[in-house]
Amino acid sequence: MNVDLLIHSAAQVVTCASPPGPKRRETMTEVGLIVDGAVAIADGEVVAVGPTADLRADFTARQTINASRKVICPGFVDPHTHVVYTGDRVAEFEMRLKGASYTEIMASGGGIVNTTRAVRAASVDQLVAETRPRLEAMLALGTTTVEIKTGYGLDPKNELKLLQAIEELARTFPADLVPTFLGAHAIPPEYNNRPDDYTDLVVEEMLPQVANWFKNSQLAIHNSQLFCDVFCEQNAFNLDQSRRVLQAGRALGLAPKIHADEFTSLGGVTLAVELNAASADHLDVTPPAEQARLADSNTIGVVLPAVNVNLGSTHFADARALIDAGVALALATDINPGSAPCPSMPLVMAIACRYQKLLPPEALNASTINAAHAIGLGHRLGSLEIGKQADLLIVGAPDYRHLAYQFGHNLVERVVKRGKFV
Ligand code: NIG
Ligand code: FE
Repeated sequence: MNVDLLIHSAAQVVTCASPPGPKRRETMTEVGLIVDGAVAIADGEVVAVGPTADLRADFTARQTINASRKVICPGFVDPHTHVVYTGDRVAEFEMRLKGASYTEIMASGGGIVNTTRAVRAASVDQLVAETRPRLEAMLALGTTTVEIKTGYGLDPKNELKLLQAIEELARTFPADLVPTFLGAHAIPPEYNNRPDDYTDLVVEEMLPQVANWFKNSQLAIHNSQLFCDVFCEQNAFNLDQSRRVLQAGRALGLAPKIHADEFTSLGGVTLAVELNAASADHLDVTPPAEQARLADSNTIGVVLPAVNVNLGSTHFADARALIDAGVALALATDINPGSAPCPSMPLVMAIACRYQKLLPPEALNASTINAAHAIGLGHRLGSLEIGKQADLLIVGAPDYRHLAYQFGHNLVERVVKRGKFV
């Protein structure tokens, strides 16, 4: 059979293949390793993956690449980002170094609403222009699919503006971009001390407008789903407000996600499980009973250790305990101007191994197949299996574990998205 692309002679192909559904417990340590492996690609999809000898016998190709001494792995999926924004918060970075905490800065009118002021003053074009280089950096580091949250507009017009920026980027950028409405990210200044009134605005005005906009958007053609997220936290949204937002979103067809237990434990994980959320994210202070509840659910647990590092903290989500309890765990950068100005999934893997005691195969599965499940795309992305989208990386190392072992430079040499080098 003739195919478009045959990449062969890789020291290792790691498929991250998983039976339908995400990986848990011991299957997190299985990466589907093929020594001297090859991948055949046609029409943007994986046609075959296996030993080089077999694929070279079965296929001829328009383009043939020799990947000897290199690793082929699935493209990374970053399932939690706030990458569309303008400006920066480098001044807050310095304030934190002098002793102010992230939550103190937030409580005194900085933090998320600081970026909101900048975003409200920016045009869609400006947001797109400032975000594109960040997405390019992520792609060069191997991220081929990116979830992107709104949440810096915090009013109907500006939340839609962020979605329009995501739509424009999705139209013009090679990675798959998956949108999440996060109108309930912070209480905007005009609703100071009136969180219930702002929650009303999110539920009664923003969500219906957003759901309606999405139906007619380009994004709906490419992604089946729009997600709805909420920052369930002290000085943000309490459990009742979070439930209202996620239930209202779900009634309009938006799949729930939640920022839970980043600083305080308010019961967000239990709410996520109750609503069959796609994911519960952060999990830094999740109590054992809720870890067990998450393990018994279909909700993916997403941990974001670049945040802990960036905030100078030595406390991390107990990802080891989460995996051992049976949680389907994923990793993400959380790239944003405040808590994680970090585009790199390999760096996140490196941190997760050292501070959360993940093994390199667990970190890889958490960054590929399980991350794809966290955004509802596990059937199409996140592993190298016949019929799946051909999103893969050629890594300049002889063993996939180098992805987590080395850090501080980029091992990703080439990126294939939908069967094409990008
Ligand atoms: O996931 N925690 C809430 N949201 C982001 C921070 C966004 C920001 O600081 O701008 C997070 O950490
Ligand atoms: Fe976040």
